[in-house]
Amino acid sequence: MQDILSRPNNPLFGGNRLKLGLFGTNGKGSAQTLVPEAFKPTWDNVIKTACLADDAGYEAIVAYARWKGYIPGRITHPSGVILDPFTFAAGVAQATSRAAIFATSHAPTMHPVAAAKACATIDIISGGRLVLNVVAGWNKPELEMFGAPLKEHTERYAHLAEWLTIIERLWREDEEFDHDGAFFKVIKGMSMPKPLQKPRIPIMSAGGSDTGRRFACERADICFLLLHSEDPADWAKQIAAYKQFARDEFDREVQVWTYAPVVQRDSRKEAQDYLRYYAVENEDKDSVDGWIAGNAATAKGMSMETLQSLRMHFAAGGGGTQLVGTADDIADRLHQLSDAGLDGLLLTWVDFIDGMTRFNRDVMPMLEQRQLRTPFQASRKLVA
Ligand SMILES: Cc1cc2nc3c(=O)[nH]c(=O)nc-3n(C[C@H](O)[C@H](O)[C@H](O)COP(=O)(O)O)c2cc1C
Repeated sequence: MQDILSRPNNPLFGGNRLKLGLFGTNGKGSAQTLVPEAFKPTWDNVIKTACLADDAGYEAIVAYARWKGYIPGRITHPSGVILDPFTFAAGVAQATSRAAIFATSHAPTMHPVAAAKACATIDIISGGRLVLNVVAGWNKPELEMFGAPLKEHTERYAHLAEWLTIIERLWREDEEFDHDGAFFKVIKGMSMPKPLQKPRIPIMSAGGSDTGRRFACERADICFLLLHSEDPADWAKQIAAYKQFARDEFDREVQVWTYAPVVQRDSRKEAQDYLRYYAVENEDKDSVDGWIAGNAATAKGMSMETLQSLRMHFAAGGGGTQLVGTADDIADRLHQLSDAGLDGLLLTWVDFIDGMTRFNRDVMPMLEQRQLRTPFQASRKLVA
């Protein structure tokens, strides 16, 4: 049975029909482009974008975990310049007052005792707004730096499940406990202080394989899927099937989110032109090649040929459902996604500050008029 959570300060469980989040500002974001305006994760940019999100009422600010870039040997490439998601989350929590802050951890890179305490600390700093995004392991080269070879796919998720079980026990239990499992041995485990959210911090999982989906439906509160089609009728079926799987198999209700690169301009043509400019004419080819090679090697479900055919989508924003057009077009598409049963989207831009400024000014009021979101008043001074 599902836990009854106490999470009064976490807007992820608030009333907005369509929830929104900011994704990837602890690194370059998800576009793979050589244009000069592409985002750089200076602390100034991180805080500006976090405040743009927080002050407009976004529900989520999500940091990803990546330890090495996409291109072997090119250590200064932007894909490898990523702020640590836990310390990022702590800093962003201090600078914001409402949005949920997501930190991400791969199970093989952080011992569960350390992860449990770091999470509890950030939950306290944020006043109960932390979410933990858990990753089984995705990119072989980064895990090899830890002397932790990428496990076989099913075993990766078994390892993640045990890792998370220990963390959840450390968050909940008031007595010391021993754990002797297939992957971890913990003697007289304990962790204090406890998180503010009870009995545990919410979990996000974005596993794309069948095993990943099963794990997410059993253990996560916020689950991610990639929409396979452009047809809203197919979206509704895919999302309903996902939620039904969680109900049938685990008697759980889960939120289903996806992620979306956004290009908003005053005309549809200008938006399409900008998309082509950054994702085709200025595609970071080496980066996309490295990304495809890495995915083909480790993820399940897509052949090398399929991955190659999607390279423009990867350059545009790592795949995802593109939101390209005028503010009206984007609001229409978001409305269709919500009607299809989607609970939320993580948004990314090439130039986050410019893109979020346009989106917050033009699209947000449209979402409110359509009653997808309630009007939001920032409750603290805006940060310049
Ligand atoms: C929105 C989103 C965020 C993700 N964040 C991370 C991340 O921070 N670090 C990482 O290594 N993988 C990340 N992933 C990858 C997934 O956790 C997962 O490993 C990938 O989708 C492949 O699925 P599979 O593990 O079921 O094969 C993310 C995926 C999505 C869709």
